[in-house]
Amino acid sequence: MTLKGKSPIGIFDSGYGGLTILSEIRKLMPEYDYLYLGDNARAPYGSRSFEVVYRFTLQAVEHLFSRGCRLVILACNTASAKALRTIQQNDLPKLDPSRRVLGVIRPTVEKLGELTHTGEIGILGTMGTIQSGSYTMEIEKMYPGYHVYGQACPMWVPLVEYKEADSDGADYFVEKYINELFLQSKGIDTVILGCTHYPLLYPKIAKYMPDSVTVIKQGPIIAESLKDYLHRHPEIETACSKHGQCHYLTTESSGKFSPMASIFLDEPVEAEQITLT
Ligand code: DGL
Repeated sequence: MTLKGKSPIGIFDSGYGGLTILSEIRKLMPEYDYLYLGDNARAPYGSRSFEVVYRFTLQAVEHLFSRGCRLVILACNTASAKALRTIQQNDLPKLDPSRRVLGVIRPTVEKLGELTHTGEIGILGTMGTIQSGSYTMEIEKMYPGYHVYGQACPMWVPLVEYKEADSDGADYFVEKYINELFLQSKGIDTVILGCTHYPLLYPKIAKYMPDSVTVIKQGPIIAESLKDYLHRHPEIETACSKHGQCHYLTTESSGKFSPMASIFLDEPVEAEQITLT
């Protein structure tokens, strides 16, 4: 099945993780068409440089535009942290100013005001997301006076990718990074899971997180914020096609992508292999 001649909403991720975002979006808005692109052949992005994450993300956005997407969501936190701003400010005006590229950091941060009491926020993410300081900057802009503590969790994505999320071995690394986060401050009362893969580790994360802490999963927040965005932008909304279809693209072989994607989505997936240049 292809979405030729249609205008699906593009969802981009470095790999599988964005499927956790896609599934929440589809749950809330099943009527739209979606085109998911996972750059699996070049994932993970988490430890890559700014320049490389930007270049790869731009290629993906251009590909999704070429397939008719008028709106692309960067479901990947690392791409949102390292590439979104440059694409919005420098590339979009040249590529097509009528199209939109949105990320996941801002909508997640917007939610904090109604959740935290202490104003002390923990961010769990990839090395790239934490080192970029993007969450900290966005939070300080929106909520001056809040304190932000970032903790990179470089082993969590591999645990999910290698299907070890439920294993006893995963406990060690989940506990370790959560402990390291709270060593930075005991006052943290709200923690953002700032990476697409982390919802799949949620049972273990909940086990080691102090009971009083609110843990923010991004999927439902991004879905709500997209719905609100479409409501506020009828010029984009009316251009989106609505046949309730979803098509999957991957830069890896589809034989590799499809079985793994089926685990993330809990339903059969047939992907199309593409090359990004
Ligand atoms: N999708 C990435 C993110 O949300 C995690 C996987 C990767 O490092 O590429 O940051």
